[in-house]
This record gives sequence, structure tokens and C-alpha cells, in this order.
Amino acid sequence: MTAASPIADQIARHHASMVATLSEHTKTLARTRTPEGQQGALTQLVHYVDAELLPHAEAEEGTLYARGRELVALAVLVASMTAEHRVLRRLREALEDPALDPDARVLAAGALAGVFEAHAAKENEFLVPGLLAARVDVGGLLGSMREQLAGRA
Ligand SMILES: [Fe+2]
Ligand SMILES: [Fe+2]
Repeated sequence: MTAASPIADQIARHHASMVATLSEHTKTLARTRTPEGQQGALTQLVHYVDAELLPHAEAEEGTLYARGRELVALAVLVASMTAEHRVLRRLREALEDPALDPDARVLAAGALAGVFEAHAAKENEFLVPGLLAARVDVGGLLGSMREQLAGRA
């Protein structure tokens, strides 16, 4: 399904840029396989996840997901996507697990990037179109998300 409205397009573009950023950080991390060599890339990846990805997920839960949960057609989807946010949070914790060796850290970063890519695709292809089809004011919810995110900065 392709984005059917300017607002859906805007969300899909933002997700695409997040997917690309995570992929770049993961590739940078994978270039070196020593703990010391990985430190810079790991710091940047963790910073991105903490400053952008997890706040984005939290803001969604209070806006798009809260509204979607009220709709019978979207409730199960929202429950599964909320569970994916929990997986993303666990993978973020795994990135800094001192027990991981450099190869395992690359795998954790790749898992985080992969889970997010699949998750964002569901938002683009199912959640946002479902909300729009139910005539939810997605633009208004996005405005609330932005306010919430700006309030944290
Ligand atoms: Fe999400
Ligand atoms: Fe999202």
C-alpha cells in the first residue's frame, strides 16, 4: 500500500530517514571489531536511539497508538506494535551490555535496526492508513507528538 495522503507521506519520509540513520550507525559500528574501536560509533548510536528513536516511540504511544487502541479494527495491531517498542527498548539496553563482545554488539545493533525497519513499515502501511480510514485527525495527533517531543528538549 502506498501513502495515500500528505500526512501519511510525511510520516513515511520521517520513518525512512530514521531507518537510514540507524543503518548508517550500524554499518559504522560493524567496521571495527574491538571494544575500543567500537566506542565512538556505539556512543553515537546509543545517543541517536535515546534522543530520537525511543522518544518517538513514547510520543506515538501517547497519541497515534492511544487513539488506535480505541478502534476495534486496530486494537490488536497497536498491541503488537507496543510490544515491538518494548523489544526496541530491550535491544537498546543490550547495546551497552558489558557482557557482549564486539561481534555480538554488531548483531544487537543490526537487530535493533531490523526490528525498527519492519515496525516502521507496519506504521506506514497499516496503522496510519487505518487511522486515516477511521477519519482520525492524524495531523492533529502528529502536532501533539511534536509538542511532546519539543517539551523534552
Ligand atoms: Fe512505533
Ligand atoms: Fe513511528
